[in-house]
This record gives sequence, C-alpha cells and structure tokens, in this order.
Amino acid sequence: MSLLQALQAHTLPEKYRNMSTAELERKVHSIKEEMGERLFIPCHHYQKDEVFQFADVTGDSLKLAQLSQANRKAEYIAFCGVHFMAETADILTAENQQVFLPDMRAGCSMADMADIYQTERAWDKLQSLFGDTLLPLTYVNSTAAIKAFVGKHGGATVTSSNAEQMVQWAFSQKERILFLPDQHLGRNTAYNLGVRLEEMAIWDPIENKLVFDGPLETAKVILWKGHCSVHENFTVANVQQVRKNYPNMKIIVHPECSREVVELADLAGSTNYIIQAIEQAEPDSSWAIGTEMNLVNRIIQQHPDKQIISLNPHMCPCLTMNRIDLPHLAWCLDSIKQGERRNIIQVDQQTTGFATQALERMLALSV
Ligand code: 13P
Ligand code: SF4
Repeated sequence: MSLLQALQAHTLPEKYRNMSTAELERKVHSIKEEMGERLFIPCHHYQKDEVFQFADVTGDSLKLAQLSQANRKAEYIAFCGVHFMAETADILTAENQQVFLPDMRAGCSMADMADIYQTERAWDKLQSLFGDTLLPLTYVNSTAAIKAFVGKHGGATVTSSNAEQMVQWAFSQKERILFLPDQHLGRNTAYNLGVRLEEMAIWDPIENKLVFDGPLETAKVILWKGHCSVHENFTVANVQQVRKNYPNMKIIVHPECSREVVELADLAGSTNYIIQAIEQAEPDSSWAIGTEMNLVNRIIQQHPDKQIISLNPHMCPCLTMNRIDLPHLAWCLDSIKQGERRNIIQVDQQTTGFATQALERMLALSV
C-alpha cells in the first residue's frame, strides 16, 4: 500500500461529514442493536458527549483495561479513547477479538515522549551508572513497545489510580526505579510515599543524560522527562486565583499536574477518583477541577446542586481524545459491520507477550 493509499484508508470519507447528527446517531444505534454483544464500546471519561452516550462501559484507564480483559464475548471492540488504551485492550483480549480505534490519529502526546529507541539507550546508560539496582515502571500512557520493554525487565505498568501501590511494589523488588514517561505522576507518587525531592533524578531523553545534583547512590527514583500537554496548563497562578476569588472552594486535580499544583490542591487522583469525590461531596459545596474539559463539563452538568469550575478558565479539551467524534464512530461501526479491515489496532505477538507480563503484574495487584 502506498503512503497516499494508507492515508486515504484512514481518512474519514466525505459521506460521514455530510450526514446530520440525527442520521449519524440513528446509524450508531442501529448497528449497536443489530450486533448486540458481538460489539463492545468502552469509552474513556475524556470522550466527547456525542460519543460517550454510546458507551457500553465508561471508566478511567485501569477500569477500561480490566473491563476489556473481562469481556470474552465481543468479537469487535470499538475503543473510544486514545491509541495506547486501544493497544492495551488488544494486548489483554483474546486472539479472536479485534480492537478498532475510530480515528487512528487519536494518539497521546505524553505517550509519544518516550520511544523504544530512547528507552533502550537510556537503560544502557542507567545500567552503567547504577548496575542491577533499577526496576522500570511505566504509566499505561505509553506505547506497547515500552510496556513490553518494562515487562521484559521485570517491571510493571501503573495507572493514576494504583500508582502508589505499584511504586511500593517496585521498591520491594529493587533499590531504585525508572518511571516512564510522566515525570509528574512519578514525582507526585514517590513524594507521597516519602521519597524526598532531592532523591529524584530526571532522565532527559533528548539530551540522553541524567540530570541530578546529589551523589549518584542517593538517587532513588529516575523520572523520565515527559509530561501531559493538557495537564501542564494548570498552574500555581490558577490555584492562587481560585483561592483569592473563592476562599471556600476545594481544588481537586489529576496527578499528571505538576508537583507544585498538586501540593497546593486539596485533593489529587485519577479521573474515577475525581468523579467519585464530587459525587460524594455535600450539596452546595464548591469545586475547582484540574483535569480535561470534556470531563469537567460533564461533571458540571451532572451536579447542578454544586458550584463547579475548571481550575484554569481557559482550558481546552484533550485534542487527541477529541478526534474520536460521532462521524468517526459511525464510520468505524459501519466498517466493522461490512467486514472492512481498517482502523484495527493489532500489537505483534512478541510485544504482546512481554507487555502482558507488565500489565498482569499491575492487574494482579489492583482490585
Ligand atoms: P485516568 O487513568 O485517570 O483516566 O487518566 C488517563 C489519562 O490519560 C489522563 O490524562
Ligand atoms: Fe495523553 Fe494528556 Fe490527553 Fe491524557 S490528557 S490522553 S495524558 S495528552
């Protein structure tokens, strides 16, 4: 297939752009009804409402991984989330189950901040500095190749809802950890577990070097220099503004926010944690939320009894999550129905083998 043909195969046909919302919704409804349990649509909390309404299950990364693994009935899984989540679903499902991503451009800028070549290069250098004292952990927001690398070296994946448990586990295996690719989740988690900031080094994958001021033997956590381009937009100035304008407002953020923001917030946790905290909060309570806007807007709509705002009033949704829209979902389901092999996420066997080890170590420790 030429590059042009490949591009065309992944580009939404004009027909779906020209359909009305009502027509698209009817199409999705009727294909769902016709295919029944043969089709499964897991949907992440950051998805747009126009897609979210068709979810069979919704959740954070951990829950979606668990539910994808548990579902043995569906032949087709149309994953409404980003590329790494669909890869995880493919790794955890059986061979006869096929995973589709409605728009192949739905990546994650954080996952793109660690590629396998940089990781192998980093590992060689870190081994020469620290010997066999290091265990790799990767946030699930990473490619299947990175998960496989971690699995092959005895490590595990983590999500934002089990990161503390997994870092604790890692320290029961080895003296120090390499945490990929989100420096903020790594730093926030290790800090909560009592690791001091002076004991955390940074691995710069572009410069291919370790950034650390102290004596090498005191480094306990090596943080990959990656971040989420959505959550980095919540700043200390945003927190100060909320504290000034709304003295009684509680601030809750995702742990992909920087250490400084998490430190100043009242609460921090995964998307599921944020949803539950607001559900359980007193009526009339007021909240500033530091996470992706599709989710914040949904929470605002679901809780008219509470005053809820975004921690950053100028936030945008996650652009890559937003690429999965109703026309792409309708196109994807149409293709599945017609037996067309497009937008399939298929992780090769060798990568699946090692990545499964990393994911299974995490799932065994998560309830
Ligand atoms: P959760 O696992 O908390 O849903 O987070 C996924 C994610 O990509 C956050 O940016
Ligand atoms: Fe990736 Fe950030 Fe979007 Fe989550 S919010 S999918 S980490 S870019």
